[in-house]
Amino acid sequence: MVKVGIIGGSGIYNPSMFDKVEEKKVRTPFGPPSDSYMLGEIDGVETVFLSRHGRGHRYSPSTLNYRANIYGMKKLGVTHVISASAVGSLREDYRPLDIVIPDQVYDRTCKRASTFFDDIVVHIGLADPFCPELSRILYEVSSKKYRTHDKGTYLCMEGPQFSTKAESNVYRKLGFDVIGMTAQPEAKLAREAEMCFAIIATVTDYDVWHEESVTISQVIENAAKNEQAVQDIIRSSVKRLADMGDCQCRHALEGAITTSENAIPA
Ligand code: ADE
Repeated sequence: MVKVGIIGGSGIYNPSMFDKVEEKKVRTPFGPPSDSYMLGEIDGVETVFLSRHGRGHRYSPSTLNYRANIYGMKKLGVTHVISASAVGSLREDYRPLDIVIPDQVYDRTCKRASTFFDDIVVHIGLADPFCPELSRILYEVSSKKYRTHDKGTYLCMEGPQFSTKAESNVYRKLGFDVIGMTAQPEAKLAREAEMCFAIIATVTDYDVWHEESVTISQVIENAAKNEQAVQDIIRSSVKRLADMGDCQCRHALEGAITTSENAIPA
C-alpha cells in the first residue's frame, strides 16, 4: 500500500491540500522531528505532511533534525516522500518560478548527521539519489501546466549564509544547475529507510552570480508565489502514485548491511 509523505520547505507550510487532517506527534530515537506530522488523505491515498523548518520557521537547514524527520515518516508507514524545496538557479534558462525535478545532487554539507547507521556498517547505493520513477511522475504532471525542467544537478550547500560570488561562479563552471540547502541528507536518509524520494524544486532566484544579492525574503516571497502550483502538482501526482509498482529504492538495504551477526554482542 502506498502512503505519501510530503516535506514542505520555505514558503510551503500549508497542509490544506489534504482532506481530513489529523495532527500527530512522533517520538524517535534521534530526538524530536521539526514539528507534528499532519495525517490526511488525497483522493483516498493516505498522506503525511511535515513542515521541514517547523511552524514559525524555527530550524535552519544546518540545525534541523533530518534523521528524526525521515525516521518519523518511516514510523508512520510512509512509502514515498515528495520533498518541496526552494532553490537558486545557476543557469540562465532555469528562471525564477520555474519548477525543476533534479536527477542528481552534489553534497557540500559538512555539519549534519547523515546516516541512521552509526553502530553497524551499512553501505547503500546512491548513484541515482532520487527515485527515477517518482521523479518521472512529478515531471509528467508538472510539465502539463508549469514550466518544468526534468533534470538538474542540485548543489546542496551547508549554509545558513548564501554563497559568495566566487563560490557561485565556481559551481556554475562545475556544471551544477540549482543550489539549495536541504536535499542532503534527506535523500540519503530516505534511501537508507527504503522509501522512494524525489524533489519538486521551485526556483526562487538566480543566486549571486547573476544577482547583486539573494535575500531570504525574496526566497520566501517567490516560493509562496508557487505554493499553489506545488500543491497542485502534489495532488495530481499522489493519484498516480497509487498505481506505482515495486521499486529498487524500497529494497536499498538488501546486501548493504556489512556487519555480521557474530560481531553483535550477545
Ligand atoms: N534556496 C533558495 N535560493 C537559494 C540560493 N540562492 N542559495 C541557497 N539556497 C537557496
